[in-house]
Amino acid sequence: MRYPYVKIAGIGSYLPSRIVLNQELAETLDTSDEWIVSHTGISKRHLAADDQSCSDLACLASIKALASAGLSAEELGLIIMASSTGDYYNFPSTACLLQHKLGAKNAAAFDLGAACSGFVYSLEMGRCWALSQQKPVLVVGSEMLSRITDWQDRETCVLFGDGAAAVVLLPSVEDGIPYSYLAADGENFNLLKIDSGCRIPRRGEDRRLNYLQMLGKPLFSFAVRSLETVINKILQDNNLSLDDITYIVPHQANLRILELVAKRMEIPSSKFYNNINSVANTSAASIPLVLDELHRENKIQSGDLLITVTFGGGLTYGGNLLRWLR
Ligand code: ACO
Repeated sequence: MRYPYVKIAGIGSYLPSRIVLNQELAETLDTSDEWIVSHTGISKRHLAADDQSCSDLACLASIKALASAGLSAEELGLIIMASSTGDYYNFPSTACLLQHKLGAKNAAAFDLGAACSGFVYSLEMGRCWALSQQKPVLVVGSEMLSRITDWQDRETCVLFGDGAAAVVLLPSVEDGIPYSYLAADGENFNLLKIDSGCRIPRRGEDRRLNYLQMLGKPLFSFAVRSLETVINKILQDNNLSLDDITYIVPHQANLRILELVAKRMEIPSSKFYNNINSVANTSAASIPLVLDELHRENKIQSGDLLITVTFGGGLTYGGNLLRWLR
């Protein structure tokens, strides 16, 4: 029998045990808890240990997602890893390292680079592949932004945290991912980038080459515009209203962005979920971390409709309409 749809059948997450409060950052930087909370909504973040890598975080989240789906790693047909902070700069892919760590010997594996939009993009790619091949897919968002952040740059380093979350997709008789919208705006690539690459090879003497750089204000405007565009498109294309949606799950970049979008679109703040206060911006891991939190805290029930919505480096943006079927 060929299944006509795909659903999320398992979910799990992992946050490193070390928690860094704003006050700790203020000991070495010209910043304060008051500034960070009032400008971003962030109070603390989890940071990976020195001996942890992106694939380690991904592995711990994936083990939980597989257990929650009741699947063994050998049953996976594909692993898609969304990350900007892989174990190696070019290859091997972090997905291949994860395949080995999990013992997922029957799975193909690749990384998907769409920065903070990586999970939203990967979910749609995973859905297509699970449907065409009729096999389980593991989609992981795993990030260690702490390793590409300049800890002397107060304008960026206060924003980020480390973490990972994973979902298992299964072919299904019910439609768990009815719609996705993926988009890009390459013209504005300059707003968020790390300069080094094949264009400018890494050099030890200029540390700025190796770290994330951001133009905060124009990125803020882009974020507000793109989140609004995506939410409206998902609602309109599916003949839905906000009343039909249990939660909108946005990429957790900055609480002020989320509050502004909620205000402009008249979305009740209770419906526009955020956990940025305790985990900060975890890039491609941020949306699945929220989904796992909603699931663990029994805030979503089978049949609920959710919208994911994101923006990120590239620039990329997009969202998924999900029907929670667990
Ligand atoms: N502590 C104290 N002061 C700070 C800090 C800090 N950590 N960072 C910046 N400042 C200072 C600035 O130097 C500036 O000082 P000045 O007036 O003397 O020049 C002042 O605070 C105000 O700076 P602004 O840039 O005006 O601050 P703004 O209110 O725009 O907030 C922020 C900056 C938080 C970066 C905002 O622009 C933003 O959120 N932009 C969106 C970027 C984003 O979402 N990035 C996430 C990564 S990308 C992603 O996830 C896809």
